[in-house]
Amino acid sequence: MRNDNSASVLAAESLLDVAALRADTPGADAVVHFNNAGCGLLAEPVLTALVEHVRLEAAMGGYEAAALRAEQVGAFYTEVAALIGCAPRNIAFAGSATHAFSTALSAIPFEAGDVILTTRNDFISNQIAFLSLRKRFGVRVVHAPDAPEGGVDVAAMGALMREHRPRLVAATHIPTNSGLVQPVAAIGRLCRELDLLYLVDACQSAGQYPIDVTEIGCDLLTATCRKFLRGPRGSGFLYVSDRVLRAGYEPLFIDMHGARWTEPDRYRPVDTAARFEEWEFPYATVLGCAAAVRYARRVGMDAVARRTPALAAVLRGRLAELPGVRVLDHGRQLGALVTFAVEGWEPEPFKAALDARRINSALSFRHFAQFDFGDKDVDWCLRLSPHYYNTEQEVDQVVAAVAELGTGA
Ligand SMILES: Cc1ncc(COP(=O)(O)O)c(C=O)c1O
Repeated sequence: MRNDNSASVLAAESLLDVAALRADTPGADAVVHFNNAGCGLLAEPVLTALVEHVRLEAAMGGYEAAALRAEQVGAFYTEVAALIGCAPRNIAFAGSATHAFSTALSAIPFEAGDVILTTRNDFISNQIAFLSLRKRFGVRVVHAPDAPEGGVDVAAMGALMREHRPRLVAATHIPTNSGLVQPVAAIGRLCRELDLLYLVDACQSAGQYPIDVTEIGCDLLTATCRKFLRGPRGSGFLYVSDRVLRAGYEPLFIDMHGARWTEPDRYRPVDTAARFEEWEFPYATVLGCAAAVRYARRVGMDAVARRTPALAAVLRGRLAELPGVRVLDHGRQLGALVTFAVEGWEPEPFKAALDARRINSALSFRHFAQFDFGDKDVDWCLRLSPHYYNTEQEVDQVVAAVAELGTGA
């Protein structure tokens, strides 16, 4: 046994038939896929759902195929709702997590002086969207400080909530650029106490941890299906609470799917989160997402949440022992994103050297994470993100490759 983390990985592994799950994953043996935070490998049932629908569209026409598969399309909503603990009416499909996020933001009638309270580790595109709102509407963007051990200081964030009464509180559950898991439920408890609108970016946590929107206490939550949920690219979803629906929030550019044109000069938004969707719909993708979420739920989110971060912890621990490697993840809780800097390498050649060994990884740069990388004083890092279907042997392979490259630089 290599370290304590190995023990928990093995314990979790016994809950999952990893060999069977890999057999179900066409890419599993072709590459060492440690880029699940970019995009997970599709499982066979997801691939089948996608391809079958494209074939059906080719054979009978896109509208006709959609009508024939209406029930299966409806399963997208029931599956996602079951995944995150809400009703199907609270779910909207989105073409990306970013689209879900900006559509949600567009529903908030910001005025000059309104405060958006967020963290120093919120996702790059979310931070840019807040700054864009500042430029156009004069909102103020306030960042809660971090705790010394990493991650947002929840008490300090609470004090800022009381001081500013923000129009919106926004937090990213797991940032793209580090293994940090933010205490989104603790933030949510404060938002509920103070009755503040709360938006959570769960893009990296959906499919990695169980998510319960009631426990988190959020009004809005966004995610992609392509990362740890292992769905197709070009997909995501938005959760909209009943409270928000009842209060009449609607996206700025609502369309004929989200609203009824009731009179020449009037429209009425539909009652459900469908008001955040658009009429045109990538049916094959939606069916692929339904299959992916069903698959994740069958594998079991509790087992996934035990194995995946534990496998990453083994990787993180072993990389930290290598000379010239600096592991960058800080926080009370760390998930399946492992980030590190290496001495003596430029980013692209380092990644290319891993690519050449059929090891999939990703790079993050300072401009992805102005606060976090500024604090850590790094310009770039390599990100490795295993999933439950990866193995300890693959961890060995990756650690050996980094060790070999380290000495070769
Ligand atoms: C934390 C986080 N939020 C949002 C996104 C954006 O997701 P999408 O590319 O689906 O818009 C990402 C993508 O990497 C992410 O890591």
